[in-house]
Amino acid sequence: MVATPMTESPRPVLEIEQLVSWFDTPWGVVRAVDGVSLVVARGRSLGVVGESGSGKTQTFYSVLGLTRGLPGVIAGRAQVAGVDLLQGLEQYVTRAPDANGVETVSKSPQWQPVHEARLKTVVGREIAILFQDPRRSLIPYWTIAKHFEEVSRRDPTVAGHAPWREQAAERLSGLGFPQPRRVLESFPERLSGGEAQRAMLAITMAMGPSVLIADEPTTGLDTINQAIALRSIAQQHREQRMALVLISHDLGVVDAMVEDVIVMYAGRIVARAPAPVLREIADDRLHPYALALRVSRDRRARNATINVNDGSALATRATTGCAFRHRCQLRPLLPAAVQAECERAAPPLRAVEPGYEAACWGLDS
Ligand SMILES: Nc1ncnc2c1ncn2[C@@H]1O[C@H](COP(=O)(O)OP(=O)(O)OP(=O)(O)O)[C@@H](O)[C@H]1O
Ligand code: SF4
Ligand SMILES: [Mg+2]
Repeated sequence: MVATPMTESPRPVLEIEQLVSWFDTPWGVVRAVDGVSLVVARGRSLGVVGESGSGKTQTFYSVLGLTRGLPGVIAGRAQVAGVDLLQGLEQYVTRAPDANGVETVSKSPQWQPVHEARLKTVVGREIAILFQDPRRSLIPYWTIAKHFEEVSRRDPTVAGHAPWREQAAERLSGLGFPQPRRVLESFPERLSGGEAQRAMLAITMAMGPSVLIADEPTTGLDTINQAIALRSIAQQHREQRMALVLISHDLGVVDAMVEDVIVMYAGRIVARAPAPVLREIADDRLHPYALALRVSRDRRARNATINVNDGSALATRATTGCAFRHRCQLRPLLPAAVQAECERAAPPLRAVEPGYEAACWGLDS
């Protein structure tokens, strides 16, 4: 369990408000992120849980200008260490109905340099991301040593007292590399997927970010290296007061590591609570999707086979109603009027119990 000092400053290092990120596809507009708001304060930790396609990664890619499709982020506010990364975005976005009256959205390519100029002031020292695929961020024609050297060159304060090479070797050693100097002289292609993952983690930690976005940071690692990687992240979180956003499919991993949890489904936050509060919520007060994740976790713990993900959290193309309604086990048990509400409108996040919010018409507050 990651502890946070009692003297915690509430200063936010990352604030996202009503973030919207859509993609044009041959099958229509995919609402990858559909009105997400969250705040992470210095030294705090937030877990983001949800099955594949629920919008976990795209929420943070949108903030960091990493989306690959068009139009990508189209609305919202995203502030990192006081820099408003999306300020003025609306001037670059055009919304208009097509011949069938369906809203289409386009974004001017001129937004990109504006966004990149702002990102340069915060990426690395203030915010860093550990990708699901480490090879995405390792530069293939640089040795691992060159990656560390570049980090220390950009911010000499990170190097501290020891020369950067010594520090780099120490970090690699702490992440389970018995021969860190051999790794330093290697190019990324010489490393296995798991080694690349741990090397990337060491390089990212060397940046000393105020907030780390760790996107499934243990994918591809065996159990021992998973534990080593999570311990290293937890240590930097605790000792450097680095804020942490931990993205995972696995409610169990998140629950053990973070203070606050959000559950995402189809581009929206459907439940939010401090981890200890969420743990204690009775099944019949839990959002039906969060309940499915809990059941899945409990059965996995007992080695029972289950696939909670039968179906899809793919970002919704529907424009009305609750996106979970076709899979929801609570809805058939509700009065007809409430079931109709599930069809009619997406439920907003509302307080259900002290500290716990859920987006569900079927949970009376
Ligand atoms: N470039 C793109 N073009 C079209 N759709 C995209 C694009 N990138 C992401 N999406 C869609 O956006 C949705 C959210 O994707 P995202 O990667 O955020 O999911 P995720 O919750 O991180 O899933 P996973 O757990 O598999 O990583 C998915 O439906 C995905 O298919
Ligand atoms: S709003 Fe309705 S369909 Fe959606 S989760 Fe709640 S009960 Fe189920
Ligand atoms: Mg993802």
